[in-house]
Amino acid sequence: MPASSLEKDVAEILIDETTLQAKVAELGARISADYHDRQVTLVSVLKGALPFMADLMRSISLPVRIDLMEVSSYGGATETSGQVRILKDLSSSIEGEDVLIVEDIIDTGLTLHYVTEYLRGKDPASLAICTLLDKPARRLVDIDIAYLGFEIPDRFVIGYGLDYDELYRNLPYIGVLRPEVYGGA
Ligand code: IMP
Ligand code: MG
Repeated sequence: MPASSLEKDVAEILIDETTLQAKVAELGARISADYHDRQVTLVSVLKGALPFMADLMRSISLPVRIDLMEVSSYGGATETSGQVRILKDLSSSIEGEDVLIVEDIIDTGLTLHYVTEYLRGKDPASLAICTLLDKPARRLVDIDIAYLGFEIPDRFVIGYGLDYDELYRNLPYIGVLRPEVYGGA
């Protein structure tokens, strides 16, 4: 049972640390095989994808470049509105690069739809998506996921980068937030 002051708001551990790390290693191996003899540019969307990106890049046995974007979507704390704003843009050109977007979670898909279209406009040689989590129940736009860690049910999750009100990102596992914390049922 979670007990510390950080963990008291965790209703349940959905994906434990060992399971997470095994999946990240598996995704890294698949990416290394699929892109063999090539160089990949990993583009991560801050801040949620930070731990996933850090672990995934070390499980890829290819030359990789990394770049970071930060976007914010207008909306409430647990919902996306679909209106996306770029807070931090790429720092280098991705023209002609094999780009893999590294994301923490796809929920409605609106954020990643925007990011994908934006990056496609920068003429990469290829563009694919790797997401740790997928919550298909609430999808509003179609997203083509090349690499998926886990499909999860429609619950609000925290940890391993995912936040509620900017907290809980440092939990080493994926947990379900107690609904009382965000005023849910
Ligand atoms: P989308 O645009 O609805 O696909 O939302 C994607 C973004 O919403 C993610 O990158 C997260 O920042 C956030 N998000 C969606 N579901 C969750 C969740 O269960 N926990 C924490 N953040 C979430
Ligand atoms: Mg995110």
